[in-house]
Amino acid sequence: MAHSIWPLFDLVVRTPRLELRPPTDHDCVALAQLAAEGVHDPQVMPFDVPWTDVPPPELERRALRWWWRKRAEWSPDEWAFTGAVFVGGEAGGVQDLTAHHFAILRTVGTGSWLGRRHQGRGIGREMRAAILHLAFEGLGARQATSAAFLVENLERCLPMFGVVPAQGQSSS
Ligand SMILES: CC(C)(COP(=O)(O)OP(=O)(O)OC[C@H]1O[C@@H](n2cnc3c(N)ncnc32)[C@H](O)[C@@H]1OP(=O)(O)O)[C@@H](O)C(=O)NCCC(=O)NCCS
Repeated sequence: MAHSIWPLFDLVVRTPRLELRPPTDHDCVALAQLAAEGVHDPQVMPFDVPWTDVPPPELERRALRWWWRKRAEWSPDEWAFTGAVFVGGEAGGVQDLTAHHFAILRTVGTGSWLGRRHQGRGIGREMRAAILHLAFEGLGARQATSAAFLVENLERCLPMFGVVPAQGQSSS
């Protein structure tokens, strides 16, 4: 193990096209700049927290603070894995995996975004499958939820991931 003090630095999930791993500070800056270039149609807000609805450079600075805070506050009872997604070696977006009292609840949350130039090529599906593999096969999760709530064709999308909407919600 290269990082015995903070082993999370060694965590990597690989798929045929992608690599997911904790971002270095250099990667965080690249991701923040990518997010500032645009993640979605400005007419819609797909996120619960409208973090993309902030002008640069405040958007980038807030994003950096968020990732640093999540890294610093990691504990076995409350953790958030910010999986930087690398496409051909370039930081293309983020696939989050979060948990609260995981050892007891065995439930993970997921959330994701890609820079617009990386969207629509199946990368979103591939990175989500990768993070769910880590959750279920690697960590022994029993249930996964998602923050996604602004999804078109929901019924068509859900079976791809074996997802059932939570009561009173349209989660995927
Ligand atoms: C959501 C996101 C990560 C998906 O990544 P992507 O690489 O563009 O998606 P994929 O190319 O893997 O698409 C997989 C499938 O899901 C569908 N899909 C993807 N996003 C969708 C959406 N918002 N609504 C409906 N269908 C969607 C695609 O059409 C595709 O279906 P198909 O294979 O039958 O055509 C990306 O579009 C994104 O960053 N969007 C903006 C941020 C966002 O909405 N994040 C989710 C909120 S937590």
